[in-house]
Amino acid sequence: MNPQINIFPDINQLAAFFAGILIDKIKSLDRKRKLTLSLSGGSTPAVIFKYLSGNFASKVNWSQICFFFGDERCVPPDHPESNFKMVYENLFQFIDVPEENIFRIRGENDPDTAALEYSEQVIDKVPHRDGIPSFDLCLLGLGEDGHTASIFPGDIHLFETDTLYAVTRHPVTSQKRITATGKLLNNSGTIFFLVTGKQKADVVRQIFLHKEESKHYPAALIRPKQGNLFWLLDQQAALFHYEDLK
Ligand code: 6PG
Repeated sequence: MNPQINIFPDINQLAAFFAGILIDKIKSLDRKRKLTLSLSGGSTPAVIFKYLSGNFASKVNWSQICFFFGDERCVPPDHPESNFKMVYENLFQFIDVPEENIFRIRGENDPDTAALEYSEQVIDKVPHRDGIPSFDLCLLGLGEDGHTASIFPGDIHLFETDTLYAVTRHPVTSQKRITATGKLLNNSGTIFFLVTGKQKADVVRQIFLHKEESKHYPAALIRPKQGNLFWLLDQQAALFHYEDLK
């Protein structure tokens, strides 16, 4: 399935589009079924989550969503770099979501143990397809080096492993991370890349034009096996011209 590319004038309109999809997805669910949503980290989703909590807090049945994380930094949940802290401060604290619907990666614990325990929790809580968990919706960001979640260019083997969550290191800061692996991500129902800002324009263009240097970008290896892939971009990140794509 070819990726669907949606370009928005600004990040708020991108967030509103995603909110609409979230609302429709929840409405389409059997009342007893909860939507499984894997969240991305970093600064882009912070703006999107803030917009969602500011404009859709009462419009989304948040209690019908189970929240998971695509990756986490190996820091405590109150650390400034914690993805959980970012989501709590921009979304969770403003919406009516039961605590038992939030599945946090224990970044404060031993990384290998936390990755294994989280894998077991996802196996237990997320419906399976083809024998492994399949998130209904999965949000991903894009790093300027082509990383996504916390799968960095040196971690391409994580698209082959059967492990669901692995420990990696940020190539610049050496910070340990816990990340969903390629097999788990690509088993999602629908994946959304949320990419904004002109600093991402070049890496987006390299991926969309299948440039040689992008062949080993983890983000370029994200292809849902049976699901849909959306690229939600603002105009700054989508400086490529459509004629380039012919
Ligand atoms: C993380 C993210 C990472 C992020 C990209 C983009 O934990 O940092 O999972 O993959 O999505 O690095 O980050 P920005 O949105 O901050 O540019």
